[in-house]
Amino acid sequence: DEDGSLTHVLGLVHDVPDHPRPGILFKDLTPVFADARAFTTVATELAARVGEADLVAGIEARGFLLGAAVALVAGTGVVPVRKAGKLPRVAGSRTYDLEYGTATLELPAGTVPPGARVFVVDDVLATGGTAAAAAALLTDAGAEVVGFGVLLELTALAGRSVLAPVPVHALLHA
Ligand code: PRP
Repeated sequence: DEDGSLTHVLGLVHDVPDHPRPGILFKDLTPVFADARAFTTVATELAARVGEADLVAGIEARGFLLGAAVALVAGTGVVPVRKAGKLPRVAGSRTYDLEYGTATLELPAGTVPPGARVFVVDDVLATGGTAAAAAALLTDAGAEVVGFGVLLELTALAGRSVLAPVPVHALLHA
């Protein structure tokens, strides 16, 4: 059942104290992706929330793994939203604040048709800065962001409020 499957997923989340800096409790989700049952569960549960979207965007790096799986299950294409300097053709660029430091995200040119309805996928929602930057890139490209899907939401950081009124679908909360 769904609850049992998500409990199985939760059991694979590994807490790493003081990474990447003292005081940060890092949630290592790589064992979730490495486990066949858990990977299927997270992809299937998020795909069920894609709704009217006709495209999935996955955010570098772990959002690529999850986004591609969600898109495949949902029957959509997938677009990688990348860290700066990786893409040969860039449709747009946004610099944003992270929980620790800053970063720049870029959208690949030639991937998002104007009017596309996009579901944005990442592994973790923390402050929401990353997801908001991805959404801004997509909106600049003429797309409509219809939802966000994450495996884990760090509720205390209130990223959801940054993304409102677009709905956020989180499978696990910490
Ligand atoms: C992590 C995570 C999200 C982001 C969430 O990525 O995968 O993308 O931080 O934080 P926010 O909601 O506060 O913006 P990270 O920067 O560690 O990049 P990586 O996936 O390439 O390791």
